[in-house]
Amino acid sequence: MEKPAYFFILISILSLSTTTTCSLLNKTTDQESLIAFKSTIISDPWGILTKNWSANASICRWIGVSCSLNRQRVTALNFSGFSFKVIIPPAIGNLTFLASLDLSHNNFTSFLPNELSNLSRLELIDFRFNSLTGEISSFGNSLKLRVLNLGYNLLGGNIPYGIFNLSRTEKVDLTANNLEGGLPKDMCNGFSKLS
Ligand SMILES: *[C@@H]1O[C@H](CO)[C@@H](O)[C@H](O)[C@H]1NC(C)=O
Ligand SMILES: *[C@@H]1O[C@H](CO)[C@@H](O)[C@H](O)[C@H]1NC(C)=O
Ligand SMILES: *[C@@H]1O[C@H](CO)[C@@H](O)[C@H](O)[C@H]1NC(C)=O
Ligand SMILES: *[C@@H]1O[C@H](CO)[C@@H](O)[C@H](O)[C@H]1NC(C)=O
Ligand SMILES: *[C@@H]1O[C@H](CO)[C@@H](O)[C@H](O)[C@H]1NC(C)=O
Ligand SMILES: *[C@@H]1O[C@H](CO)[C@@H](O)[C@H](O)[C@H]1NC(C)=O
Ligand SMILES: *[C@@H]1O[C@H](CO)[C@@H](O)[C@H](O)[C@H]1NC(C)=O
Ligand SMILES: *[C@@H]1O[C@H](CO)[C@@H](O)[C@H](O)[C@H]1NC(C)=O
Repeated sequence: MEKPAYFFILISILSLSTTTTCSLLNKTTDQESLIAFKSTIISDPWGILTKNWSANASICRWIGVSCSLNRQRVTALNFSGFSFKVIIPPAIGNLTFLASLDLSHNNFTSFLPNELSNLSRLELIDFRFNSLTGEISSFGNSLKLRVLNLGYNLLGGNIPYGIFNLSRTEKVDLTANNLEGGLPKDMCNGFSKLS
């Protein structure tokens, strides 16, 4: 009966590697990412950091932060209108359960960090009305977005073809940037639902 033994070893190796991958990022690393983010905020005119983002409260109780019920992983950030003056920190790429990222109406001034392309669950990006600079190409090809709102920033470059899930794309807003090519031409056929 050699086959079952090999099979058992194979299963053991598979579950070992799965466990290792999953334990790398967890709710503790989510907490670290948001604390790193908080520490880089230069201006907070509404006093959100002092009034609500308490260091001894779970980040899931911070206003603008949503978590999954069972695992307590961060699934959505909505800092729209908080008027934060800050860069988008690379640590955001560690929020691997993030599905929705709304940073619209703030003073984000940075380049888009390459680490954003690590967020394979991300479906919605709203960065409208900030001062983001640099190239949209840094998103890479790994995102599969439904909504991409980048309007009213200082972004340049081309939109990479691969960042949309064409069967699901609902909204793309690139108004008032310095984009060179606009949307890739061969994408137009795929967009029937665009508003
Ligand atoms: C979360 O991950 C970190 C770093 O990978 C590890 O040190 C820590 O023990 C993990 N925490 C939990 C609750 O699994
Ligand atoms: C922050 O504000 C939200 C919404 O008002 C509230 O539910 C939450 O308990 C507050 N968190 C803390 C740590 O005060
Ligand atoms: C957080 O710490 C402050 C004092 O530092 C205390 O008043 C408050 O009750 C603590 N909140 C929690 C949720 O433990
Ligand atoms: C974020 O919050 C604002 C106002 O609080 C709301 O209008 C907007 O729809 C929210 N964004 C998302 C993606 O849910
Ligand atoms: C951004 O910051 C400038 C000053 O640095 C301020 O005048 C402006 O109102 C801010 N914008 C937002 C949306 O908070
Ligand atoms: C992401 O998490 C890993 C594992 O905990 C850590 O080593 C790394 O420094 C984090 N990256 C950032 C940019 O915070
Ligand atoms: C996250 O993104 C950075 C920069 O693109 C990359 O070097 C790193 O390998 C990525 N990490 C994971 C876990 O994919
Ligand atoms: C694209 O969206 C469809 C429909 O929701 C889904 O079945 C498919 O898995 C998605 N593809 C990727 C690569 O995310």
